[in-house]
Amino acid sequence: MSETMTPPRPATADEVPVIDMSPALVPGADLTAIAQTVRKACQGMAFFYVKNHGIDQAVIDGTFQQMQRFFSLPLEERMKIVKDRFHRGYLPIGTTRYPGKLPDLKDSFDLGLDLSLDDEEVIAGTPLHGPNQWPDLPGFREAVEAYFDAVRELGMRVLRVLAVSLGVEEDYFVRFYSKPTILTRLIHYPAPEAVADPEFGIGALDHTDYGLITLLYQDPAGGLELKKPDGEWVAAPFIPGTFVVNLGDLMARWTNDVYRSNPHRVVNRLGRDRFSIPTFFNPNHRAPVEAIPTCVTPDNPAKYEPVLAGEYVTGRIRANQGYKPPQATA
Ligand code: OGA
Ligand code: NI
Repeated sequence: MSETMTPPRPATADEVPVIDMSPALVPGADLTAIAQTVRKACQGMAFFYVKNHGIDQAVIDGTFQQMQRFFSLPLEERMKIVKDRFHRGYLPIGTTRYPGKLPDLKDSFDLGLDLSLDDEEVIAGTPLHGPNQWPDLPGFREAVEAYFDAVRELGMRVLRVLAVSLGVEEDYFVRFYSKPTILTRLIHYPAPEAVADPEFGIGALDHTDYGLITLLYQDPAGGLELKKPDGEWVAAPFIPGTFVVNLGDLMARWTNDVYRSNPHRVVNRLGRDRFSIPTFFNPNHRAPVEAIPTCVTPDNPAKYEPVLAGEYVTGRIRANQGYKPPQATA
């Protein structure tokens, strides 16, 4: 029997705490107290919930409603905005595949900063920079853009707290977010029995995220599971009024492994479609990522070569999306 058959216990509040972000909503407020809680979380599972995050529930609900409409469109409609060279648009099932694993059982709609074709980075061909694509669905674009703008502000607040938690200036990360390569992914996980193709996994692929931080709004049905360092899986259920924040590999690298990026997976146990929205909140393409001085000590010398954020992230995306679904033989 596969290990994913038995639902794991929920994480305790010690493992995955709920952090009240209201102090960070006030510009100039002292962030020291929440930064301490965040530091403890990031040295543990590196997953935490944020409440009082400042995003209006109507903005979130509006986007979920539009997602349900979009993923009910016929495939040929969705394919009209198939992912382009700017990595924006529709990603059909099978696009994402982690090396050595089965393709992911999900499809998604990806967007980022909406940059025009005469933007200098777009002209230069910098990866992940370009205009968004939109389906022909009245109201979709407005709802999703409102979500993107709101989550962008939340990400900036979380980054200020993270900087304080590392003992560096509050703007340590946000100064690299003038033209960030933020990727918001509206994901649809089809009900498992709807997809009988044995070429596909069951949507339970464990992975770490590769960017700096991820801000996730998950379906009230839950389904997110985290692997503890000792190998035990725990569930991170939906908690109303919260987002899930987790750290990616780029943050582990930037902090010289003082902070962790934790393996996780999604198991759709309910036999119905599941929707979620991770936002991979990554900095400017040319943000220099070199061990943060407070993270280097004689006991923990710098481990990684300096790298540009965008080069690191696009290298990881290429490795995971080079996969081409097999051709039908019948
Ligand atoms: C991811 C991820 C969680 C979810 O896309 O990297 O972990 O709930 N998603 O969809
Ligand atoms: Ni993930």
